[in-house]
Amino acid sequence: MELRILILAVVFLFTTATNAHNITRILAKHPDFSTFNHYLTTTHLAAEINRRRTITVCAVDNAAMNDLLAKHYSLYTVKNILSLHIFADYFGAKKLHQITKGSTTTSSLFQATGEAAGTSGYINITDMKGGKVGFSPVDSDSDQPMATYVKSVEEMPYNISVIQISNILTSPEAEAPTAGPTDLNLTSLLAKQGCEAFSDLITAQNAEDTFAQSVEGGLTIFCPSDQTLKSFMPRYKNLTADGKTSLLLYHGVPVYNSLGMLRSSNGLMNTLATEGANKFDFTVQNDGEDVKLQTKVVTATIKGTLIDEDPLAVYKIDKVLLPRELFKAAPAAPGPKSARSRARDEADSPGPAADDEAPADEDSSNDGGRIFGGGGILALSVSLILGLLV
Ligand SMILES: *[C@@H]1O[C@H](CO)[C@@H](O)[C@H](O)[C@H]1NC(C)=O
Ligand SMILES: *[C@@H]1O[C@H](CO)[C@@H](O)[C@H](O)[C@H]1NC(C)=O
Ligand SMILES: *[C@@H]1O[C@H](CO)[C@@H](O)[C@H](O)[C@H]1NC(C)=O
Ligand SMILES: *[C@@H]1O[C@H](CO)[C@@H](O)[C@H](O)[C@H]1NC(C)=O
Ligand SMILES: *[C@@H]1O[C@H](CO)[C@@H](O)[C@H](O)[C@H]1NC(C)=O
Repeated sequence: MELRILILAVVFLFTTATNAHNITRILAKHPDFSTFNHYLTTTHLAAEINRRRTITVCAVDNAAMNDLLAKHYSLYTVKNILSLHIFADYFGAKKLHQITKGSTTTSSLFQATGEAAGTSGYINITDMKGGKVGFSPVDSDSDQPMATYVKSVEEMPYNISVIQISNILTSPEAEAPTAGPTDLNLTSLLAKQGCEAFSDLITAQNAEDTFAQSVEGGLTIFCPSDQTLKSFMPRYKNLTADGKTSLLLYHGVPVYNSLGMLRSSNGLMNTLATEGANKFDFTVQNDGEDVKLQTKVVTATIKGTLIDEDPLAVYKIDKVLLPRELFKAAPAAPGPKSARSRARDEADSPGPAADDEAPADEDSSNDGGRIFGGGGILALSVSLILGLLV
């Protein structure tokens, strides 16, 4: 796991240091490939393509993609099939038309994923009569090529070649239903990985389906440690049933994020709790090697990785994420009452967890906080002006 993170970090440094290609941007110039481009992104193959130094992408137009989508495969299967269209070698137009002995076999990313057994995942490229170039997965039993070369879309020798081919390349192996991450039992997996209390709350609230259904398209879960949740329980129990569900869903982001991705992106994250005008979002903020999650009420830090297997990542965090939508609306309890409940929480749970209570209370006496905040800025300005005068 740690090695993987290290590799991701190195890869990230490498790709940012060099002037890397961006397949999303390349294809965005060609509306004919918008569906293909969309699925490269949602399957995370785009990131894999961008990461590689030498690569060929066989794009198909929207009509060919519609044929594929009409089969209603899972996103996981679509990913396997599209992986057949990405070769770990460089084939520009010229090389394709001058294949030694008229035929060659190349390995696709499907081969590299480890999903493919034996020879599946290899593609035959054949120079045919009349200057045509044919493509077929090696395990195809047709004597006609499955797809033919249409045109070159973009060539950056020898980094990336994007070509158009006539049809989708597929194979029984790529289409075979795989035991994808969607089949896993998310709650028991969370429980086994040290998120038992959080998993129990999800089960009690009947929220496991919402989480499980999101895995396929990519899901990142931020799970408060058992210790943190324990001290939070009195406040959790105070929430309405809907509030509890929202709070739990607030800890899920419907996008796969590796730690490397989180470290390299600051910004807003939408969560599974998002609904209508209630945004239920939070901000990712990098702080050196730390990744911090800031709601308007509390700031949590990622403390560990439980699972990081695209499309699912689960990280342990040191605070319960408190959405402003739930904790701002708490009955206005200014001054002494806040202090009292804070003191009681601290008594319940010595240690860092008590920390996440304080800002929430500040937030419940919201207006006062704002005024003081404004006063702070005023005081700062005054002292700056005084400083300038002196
Ligand atoms: C690639 O380009 C797209 C569209 O311009 C952009 O949204 C995305 O952030 C880029 N990816 C990288 C890794 O730069
Ligand atoms: C792929 O190429 C190999 C070697 O040239 C050949 O034996 C095989 O029949 C080809 N398969 C297809 C499906 O074209
Ligand atoms: C290929 O990549 C290298 C380094 O990443 C870069 O220096 C070179 O300009 C790229 N070639 C093209 C044609 O973009
Ligand atoms: C997951 O496992 C738990 C306990 O092993 C079980 O109670 C639950 O029904 C399972 N959920 C699914 C969706 O299979
Ligand atoms: C729960 O709600 C009640 C009534 O609003 C309040 O008095 C009490 O302090 C709350 N408890 C916690 C732990 O927030």
